[in-house]
Amino acid sequence: HIFGDERMNSAGVNLNIASEATPFLSALNEYQTKVWQAAPLVGGESVRGPAMSVTSPYDRRQIVGELVMADEATVKQAIDNATSAFEGWNQTPVERRSEVLCRLADLLEENKDELIALCSREAGKSVQDGIDEVREAVDFLRYYAAQAQSLMQPETMPGPTGEHNELRLQGRGAFVCISPWNFPLAIFLGQVAAALACGNTVLAKPAEQTSLIAYRAVQLAHQAGVPANVLQLLPGTGATVGAWLTSANKIGGVCFTGSTATARLINQTLAQRDGAIIPLIAETGGQNAMIVDSTSLPEQVVQDVVDSAFTSAGQRCSACRVMYVQEDVADRIVDLLKGAMNELTIGNPNDIKTDVGPVIDERAQQGLTQHIEWLHNHAKVLEQLELPQDCQHGSFIAPIAAEIAHIGQLEKEQFGPILHLIRYSAADLNSVIDEINSTGYGLTLGIHSRNEGHAQYIANQVNVGNVYINRNQIGAVVGVQPFGGQGLSGTGPKAGGPHYLTRFVTEKTVTNNI
Ligand code: NAD
Ligand code: ALA
Repeated sequence: HIFGDERMNSAGVNLNIASEATPFLSALNEYQTKVWQAAPLVGGESVRGPAMSVTSPYDRRQIVGELVMADEATVKQAIDNATSAFEGWNQTPVERRSEVLCRLADLLEENKDELIALCSREAGKSVQDGIDEVREAVDFLRYYAAQAQSLMQPETMPGPTGEHNELRLQGRGAFVCISPWNFPLAIFLGQVAAALACGNTVLAKPAEQTSLIAYRAVQLAHQAGVPANVLQLLPGTGATVGAWLTSANKIGGVCFTGSTATARLINQTLAQRDGAIIPLIAETGGQNAMIVDSTSLPEQVVQDVVDSAFTSAGQRCSACRVMYVQEDVADRIVDLLKGAMNELTIGNPNDIKTDVGPVIDERAQQGLTQHIEWLHNHAKVLEQLELPQDCQHGSFIAPIAAEIAHIGQLEKEQFGPILHLIRYSAADLNSVIDEINSTGYGLTLGIHSRNEGHAQYIANQVNVGNVYINRNQIGAVVGVQPFGGQGLSGTGPKAGGPHYLTRFVTEKTVTNNI
């Protein structure tokens, strides 16, 4: 295995190289009719219970799997198991824990065809998004495995002669990991890997919409050597399983990625427990802007904003929601934008030609549809694509761009393929910056400007976690662009960055008067 500086990110699959793409696509085809199973994995056993059908967001008539959700007794049992298993795992040498995580990374690569098929069939991800998803999960595993090996080493502190002072890091206990459906493998396993690498046991609650892929991931983790009680899976809704887990006194920490509203709820639940005061790592939503000035290159702007707003059907926390365009270049950019949007292919996520697949479910579709109605009544719609015929059985939203007056008109994050555009004049740049900061969110910011000083000024003034200059604003790479927000967008630390693991450990200083 490759650790430390020699670690390399996963290569994924290059769809532009026929010798890679052809066997991959034919392997993917094998999974088009498969029906998967998922259930709580507690004490190494699949728990039985009433099963519900999981359907494809692309076509609700297609059954993708059967899911058993955890009940309260199962959750309690899992918490007891995780608490009992903690000491053994925490005392397992970090090198051994890292080795197991790297073996899991290898297994993900070996099983990538099935996992990519699951991303597309269960979560509606395009083939390219599925490839990127598995690659990112592999990268998280290898990155945290490498990071843990240096972080967890005891450190001798300077001190007086005759006394030895040592700082030791260890796990915090049974960590609850709660993940969203939009990165059903990468974020699910990223949280789990970080907690496990540091010696914690894990109670993993995937999003209810994407339990099948989480189940396969935990099966592979056990195959890689993670002991059964060290990683347990508890599928279920947030209001039930999520609430049972976060209200438990015995847990050692919570790692959550999802909406800001849910993070607030979890924070309240944790505050009301009688147990120890424990950390909450919350990575939440955004109201992400891109600022485009008159020195930018219009063709590049348009390519980058289309990528940022419509990739993954806009279901990325990093996605661009609002493009501020300097009025001198706005008409030209709007014209190009309309043309570029019309080049997008909407449809079956399993088809490699598809750029925009479905949104996750009917509830999401309804919420986005309501916002689009609002745009038709209160904004100037610039472009709205038409849905092809084969989308009628799925939860699709046709990509749309609309001009609004100011960002305050958007009450919340619209998690779909909707781009808002606001014109500004050069003299109003500072008001634009204030307006973006006034949302309280702070996840990503795109800047398009050929004036380096100008770009750096904006980058310094806007309160966000990730700034992207003259490129798109999605797709942070593990170990390259540590990712995460501030303010309403999250507590930090940054996923895929050198400080992430520090929040999963507790520290002990041992002073020995030799
Ligand atoms: P969500 O908040 O609805 O759900 C996230 C998870 O929380 C799910 O597993 C859900 O079951 C669980 N949950 C819901 N209520 C709960 C409760 N009361 N107690 C405990 N758990 C509960 O979010 P979502 O719709 O799955 O995901 C989309 C959101 O995630 C968007 O807002 C997006 O911006 C955000 N997101 C942020 C990042 C980031 O890194 N900052 C990454 C991906 C997604
Ligand atoms: N890390 C993901 C991105 O950057 C959310 O798009």
